[in-house]
Amino acid sequence: MDKQVNILGFAGSLRNGSYNKALLRESTKLVPTGAKLEIFDLEGIPPFNQDLEKSMPDRVKEFKAKIRAADAILIATPEYNYSIPGVLKNAIDWASRPYPDNSFEDKPVAMMSTSIGILGGARAQYHLRQVFVFLDMHPINKPEVFVTFAPSKFDEKGTLTDETAKKLIRELLENLVAWTKRLKKG
Ligand SMILES: Cc1cc2nc3c(=O)[nH]c(=O)nc-3n(C[C@H](O)[C@H](O)[C@H](O)COP(=O)(O)O)c2cc1C
Repeated sequence: MDKQVNILGFAGSLRNGSYNKALLRESTKLVPTGAKLEIFDLEGIPPFNQDLEKSMPDRVKEFKAKIRAADAILIATPEYNYSIPGVLKNAIDWASRPYPDNSFEDKPVAMMSTSIGILGGARAQYHLRQVFVFLDMHPINKPEVFVTFAPSKFDEKGTLTDETAKKLIRELLENLVAWTKRLKKG
């Protein structure tokens, strides 16, 4: 696969000053040559209602189309109450429906998290990995990117300043691109 690898990224936070959105912004600078990262904002995706899944809201249609067009997915998420934020799970639920029209099926995926706490969102990532099983996605195992104590790792403009985190994100993206190419070959 020599053509460009297109990655779609989204964050599990709607907050303007979100540290996880900042991780995605940083990732656009760290993608390897031959790959491109487009960011989708989950703003505007309504609460899931199964009555509407056969005539989906436009914003959900747009999200599903972007996922379908992407070669790989990148998720940056906070941890809320030791798990995945509702905003992220809600968007995933929409894009996985109506059964069996799961737009995530067979997609390679990488994830990262940052939180203000000592584990950097690790518990949310392990819950997300479980969700990938039913979605039939192909997650990258390593490196695991947990950016701990977020306020100390970003400057006042919301730019990631931690070199260790940048190195890990660069490696994660390289692995995601290599993994995507391997899967496409088969
Ligand atoms: C509802 C809620 C629950 C949270 N639960 C956790 C948690 O379980 N673990 C944690 O490390 N931080 C938790 N936090 C703090 C987040 O790490 C912090 O708000 C972080 O900035 C959220 O990510 P964002 O900056 O991308 O919005 C929680 C925050 C909120 C609003």
